[in-house]
Amino acid sequence: MKPRKINDSVDWMGSLDFDRRLFDSLIPLPDGTTYNAYLVKGSEKTALLDTVNPPAADELLAQLEDVPRIDYVVSHHAEQDHSGSLPHILERFPKARVVCSAKAKGMLMDLLQIPEESFQTVQDGEEISLGDKTLRFIYTPWVHWPETMVTYLKEDKILFSCDFFGSHLATTELFVKDEGRVYEAAKRYYGEIMMPFRSRIEKNLEKIPRNDIAMIAPSHGPIYPQPSFILEAYRDWVLGPPKNTVVLPYVSMHGSTKQMVDHLMAGLVERGVNCEPFNLPATDLGKLATALVDAGTIIAGVPTVLAGPHPMAVYGVFLANALRPKARFLSIIGSYGWGGKTVDTLSGMISNLKVEVLEPVLAKGVPGEEDFKALDELAEAVARKHAELGLEN
Ligand code: FEO
Repeated sequence: MKPRKINDSVDWMGSLDFDRRLFDSLIPLPDGTTYNAYLVKGSEKTALLDTVNPPAADELLAQLEDVPRIDYVVSHHAEQDHSGSLPHILERFPKARVVCSAKAKGMLMDLLQIPEESFQTVQDGEEISLGDKTLRFIYTPWVHWPETMVTYLKEDKILFSCDFFGSHLATTELFVKDEGRVYEAAKRYYGEIMMPFRSRIEKNLEKIPRNDIAMIAPSHGPIYPQPSFILEAYRDWVLGPPKNTVVLPYVSMHGSTKQMVDHLMAGLVERGVNCEPFNLPATDLGKLATALVDAGTIIAGVPTVLAGPHPMAVYGVFLANALRPKARFLSIIGSYGWGGKTVDTLSGMISNLKVEVLEPVLAKGVPGEEDFKALDELAEAVARKHAELGLEN
């Protein structure tokens, strides 16, 4: 891909990765991703904002072929999908200074062995002049690492946000056109990596000049020419109340737990509560993370195996605990054969969740009349709790 012009002073560079299917050996990428870098040309100096994932380094170097000089390479975030090609850029432009937060400097030295003399660290709010263009750096820690910052190009009112507001979405559309598609991808990305740091994201949203941004240019996914779209979405995900929705991750070995999930779901729907079930062995974990962004209640369907919770359910509960969603209630349902410590084990795994635990429902073998009655009571309790909090669909 050749460089693409955003305006007279700013070019998109980078790489579209349509084929990548997994990030961090963990996060599914059903729509691939992009690694966006941006070249900002001032009247006196030139800055490259971020680089690309190392396998795409040659693509970026080719895009820079006609660029005679780079004075600054801004590294917003030390993770290698943005910083990994820095050594190649410095080899080609040895006089370029790596501009980053003090914390990022140490991380880049550790991760990429960049020599200390290549760095120019900047403070929160500091500015660098490129002549007729000014880069202002704003610390936005914990998006999703501690060293992260964004750059505001003052004269053009463009916010270069790196992972913040990004979406794993490979598309040749430089600017957002299909807002629904980008909304889903950005929400998924928020749920997967930023939701655990919700309180820090809230502070970061306050720090950026949100009423004076003409465009948000992230380092994954298309650029937002209408920033209010993604700013409002983030405010809802971070600050809004949870929805009148139950997320139901479950595993069923011989169908008993599935019967319980189906019965509970019918009871909840009958009482006006939305449900999103996820059969964990067949689930895209990114979809589960997306659903957790808004969930009012989480109910795990967990069969007992080897005297404890099914390992795949443990994985689901571990993930939910790690992602720290804003859900207010939690419960467990499931079938067991002869005993075990399923509830005790799972109860010890949810310390990050600020939830009220509702009475679990465990059935011995195939669920019977008493179990279905208990599931109805659980559905009633969830509907009542959601109504008391005024949660809406
Ligand atoms: Fe896109 Fe946290 O790296």
